[in-house]
Amino acid sequence: MKILVTGGAGYIGSHTCLALLEAGYEVVVVDNLRNSDAQSLKRVEELSGKSLSFYAFDVRDENRLDALFKEHRFTSIIHFAGLKAVGESVTIPTKYYANNLISTLALCKMMKKHGVRNLIFSSSATVYAQDNAMPLGEDARLGCTNPYGWTKLMCEQILRDLCVAEPSFSVVLLRYFNPIGAHKSGRIGEDPAGIPNNLLPYITQTALGRLKQLSVHGDDYDTVDGTGVRDYIHVVDLANGHLKALEYAQRNRGCEAVNLGTGQGYSVLQILHAFEQVNKVTVPHVIGPRRPGDIATVYADPKKARDLLGWEATLGIEDMCRDAWNWQTQNPKGYRA
Ligand code: NAD
Ligand code: UD1
Repeated sequence: MKILVTGGAGYIGSHTCLALLEAGYEVVVVDNLRNSDAQSLKRVEELSGKSLSFYAFDVRDENRLDALFKEHRFTSIIHFAGLKAVGESVTIPTKYYANNLISTLALCKMMKKHGVRNLIFSSSATVYAQDNAMPLGEDARLGCTNPYGWTKLMCEQILRDLCVAEPSFSVVLLRYFNPIGAHKSGRIGEDPAGIPNNLLPYITQTALGRLKQLSVHGDDYDTVDGTGVRDYIHVVDLANGHLKALEYAQRNRGCEAVNLGTGQGYSVLQILHAFEQVNKVTVPHVIGPRRPGDIATVYADPKKARDLLGWEATLGIEDMCRDAWNWQTQNPKGYRA
């Protein structure tokens, strides 16, 4: 079975390509390398001992996409390609809407034209409104606070409508919580450009000495120790969730939204201390002000993923912290070294 993976050179995409090759799928990647390095795919081939096909172009390029769908008969598509920096999406919203919506629309068109019926879409926990009770079930109220989030929610709506119009189609909207960690080999991992916004890359780069200190964004939330609580999920567990979603999509019809999280929340200080303990390093940190737009606590109800897909997270916070550090120490400058 041949799978088209858009954005396959990126953080989650590269881990999923590896899992796909290991499971015996044929993999074709399209990525414009806007936020990644083709080196990640070379390493995926090296780790799996198998090869994949890579095409460097923008998913919005319908002519290239059409030719690709003629060249390969895809069973399914996993659509990771997208811009994902929340702050940047506030400054340049039209770029985010253009990239994330038009790439999804181009794929919808090709699915219809070439009779490819299954699609797995990278959505996010960010589509849930901020005033929901925890844990977040898939039927919680939806609503966003930034353009990035809106692009995800709008793509979800587009794909839902597509499934109504095309009853033979099957789409799984995977709502990721907070992916962290790396493959245990340390050969592939998260390689953010510039100064990271997310917690784990900030911690690893501080531990390495590239950044001076971590600022903990607020310690006056109503949580176990006052710092923000999130549902961190190992990227390898997340990658495996895509394989389960593929199997589900191939057997069913219609559109389903499914959370991929562990159901367990950890605070910033809990993560920081776990990281220091597991890796025997010190991470200089200070308590700073709250980050605008943050909320106290976010974690998933993972039941639907278990019931519908037969998937649940297996790796714990120590694995996530150890593997993130293993990747960072082996690749202090990411793939660019
Ligand atoms: P990433 O930036 O590492 O990977 C995305 C890849 O898509 C990159 O390789 C980039 O070059 C490529 N890309 C972007 N626009 C493209 C286009 N128009 N044509 C071709 N390639 C394009 O990000 P990631 O962390 O691996 O995230 C993958 C997906 O999951 C994204 O859609 C993201 O919004 C979503 N997501 C990520 C997180 C997270 O915390 N990492 C959480 C929830 C959802
Ligand atoms: C971010 C994104 C969200 C995305 C999610 C998944 C924002 C506003 N939201 O959310 O859209 O779906 O990632 O990856 O960017 N923290 C610090 N110091 C830091 C960095 C983070 O204390 O330097 C804290 C945050 O306040 C938060 C926690 O760590 O409590 C996690 O932060 P982060 O990794 O940015 O993830 P989210 O805020 O959940």
